[in-house]
Amino acid sequence: MCGIIGCVTEDKFVASILYKSLKRLEYRGYDSAGMATIFNGILYVKKDQGKIDEVNERLNFNNMPGNIGIAHTRWATHGAPSKINAHPHTDCGNKLAVVHNGVIENFIELKKELLDLGHKFVSKTDTEIVAHLLEENFKNGENFFSAFINTVKRLSGSYALAIIYVGEPDKILVAKQDMPLLIGVGDECMFVASDASAFIDETNKAVILQNGEVAVITAKSYEIYRVKDGAKVTRNPILLNWTLEMAEKQGFPHYTLKEIFEQPLTIKSALRLQDTYADLLTEFLDRGEKIFLLAAGTSYNACLATSYMFSKLARLTAYPVIASEFIENYGHSIDIGTVILAVSQSGETADVLNALEFARLRAATILGITNVVGSTLTRISRAYLLQNAGPEIGVAATKTFTSQLVVLAQLALRLAKKRGKIAQYEMDEFRDRLYEIPDVVSQVLEEVKKPVQELAKKYLNSKFFLFLGRGISTATAFEGRLKIMELSYIPCIAYPAGESKHGPISVVESGVPAFFICPKDETRKAIIGNIEEMKARGAKAIIIGSKDDKELMEISDDYIGLPDIHELLSPIIYILPFQLLAYYLAIERGLDPDKPRNLAKSVTVL
Ligand code: G6P
Repeated sequence: MCGIIGCVTEDKFVASILYKSLKRLEYRGYDSAGMATIFNGILYVKKDQGKIDEVNERLNFNNMPGNIGIAHTRWATHGAPSKINAHPHTDCGNKLAVVHNGVIENFIELKKELLDLGHKFVSKTDTEIVAHLLEENFKNGENFFSAFINTVKRLSGSYALAIIYVGEPDKILVAKQDMPLLIGVGDECMFVASDASAFIDETNKAVILQNGEVAVITAKSYEIYRVKDGAKVTRNPILLNWTLEMAEKQGFPHYTLKEIFEQPLTIKSALRLQDTYADLLTEFLDRGEKIFLLAAGTSYNACLATSYMFSKLARLTAYPVIASEFIENYGHSIDIGTVILAVSQSGETADVLNALEFARLRAATILGITNVVGSTLTRISRAYLLQNAGPEIGVAATKTFTSQLVVLAQLALRLAKKRGKIAQYEMDEFRDRLYEIPDVVSQVLEEVKKPVQELAKKYLNSKFFLFLGRGISTATAFEGRLKIMELSYIPCIAYPAGESKHGPISVVESGVPAFFICPKDETRKAIIGNIEEMKARGAKAIIIGSKDDKELMEISDDYIGLPDIHELLSPIIYILPFQLLAYYLAIERGLDPDKPRNLAKSVTVL
């Protein structure tokens, strides 16, 4: 998974624009970076392994000449991170350059064919075959466009491709299949990118390409064609409401911290649901015979919490399921009565889309919740809701987790009203507490920042952490574990506290830090038993509980006190100390919290 960007102007050099845009896409992958431009009939390529800034320090992208160029930030799939595997890739004659996001599934057979024809390959990537296929088509006397179309027709797999060619140096050719690709329509330059944040400071006019389409982009125009029949497609740009400011750090040292502190605002936006679509989702969920909540990573933890909300408020059983397990576990019992609510911040996670495709072919109803307008999930869902959290740049999901929970809580409330299984006053109480959440979040972030910083200092050298919660706090324990593992690289174990005696207790010995999530709810009494079991074996009990819970304070080694909250909304508040702890542990340990190693924001491979 990678980020691609291309830019063409009539007379301005594009290298510095490309570099700036590339930096914005870095969250999509950052093991290597590269750029290609064309000037006076010569193709210039610079690329290397490392983060974009490191590569730029060595190579200086900004001095590359030319008013047309493409660039790439990589997250390796085929071929280890290295200079030769970095994009752009070129043909034998060094006449064209290709950047690619995705996986070309038939590259081995294509490569064999091209090797037999005498092409020389330098990299281990799947992408390089695209350059050589094009070169082969040029040998048949084809022009750039027709060589490109005939190349794309031979590819199977997923791709967002952007290509420049010295023979026709006024255009970038692009193709899209199962990977995001947008054209940015500026006054003086045209862009193409994996994501609008790459060009949003230059233009907010975007054209979203669809699967099976290619486009020809020049400084003043774009033309879209369907690959299968060559038909021209007319599509006007849409106006995006993401400002550059929203995508910048706003004075915080890291995006992750900025995004954690942005939550009062993003939760407010998430409270503004579009009624028509929320009603539609409620209707489908209510009618469903089997209901699944499908997601990966943080979004799965939001689904887990939601299964408690749906059950308690609406008496609706919805199975939370990890996307990559869905087909094997439940796929074969899907039918027309199945409703799948897929939750995906990016709307592009391959595990999610793969499971949905399987379910769609078996007549299941697909519903979606996502943060990205125009993402694949929005296109394949019968109805979807947007989280409205704005772009999240930090790789670890923070503000998008809480905004998912807020959208899902409103769905739970609508379902409760529709199904009428709980008393009106209970619904009113839930609703009132939900609308107080933005203020509670602001207050908590300010109050816990310092004590959490202290905790990070105290526990920075821990060998591992344990996370235990009961009921809906199991989801908080899972998400707390995920955040801390992602950002601090400290191994973590999370369990429903009741299950901890069936195994995890064996790892406890003197000094092991164990986090307990203990809001004032029906599970509180039972978890006190679990805390005592762990303490008796030497664990340090770090308890997150209610501000005035004296009993818990007394049995804790460290205590973080939070305001009282509706039990079903507690994950939104109780996750905050863990988000901050993950951030400060990364800082204390000298790590980059925005770009944890080996992870990517949007994982578009299975
Ligand atoms: C990746 C990210 C996680 C994210 C997961 C699901 O693994 O690193 O932070 O939770 O994908 O992403 P989605 O966009 O589908 O919510």
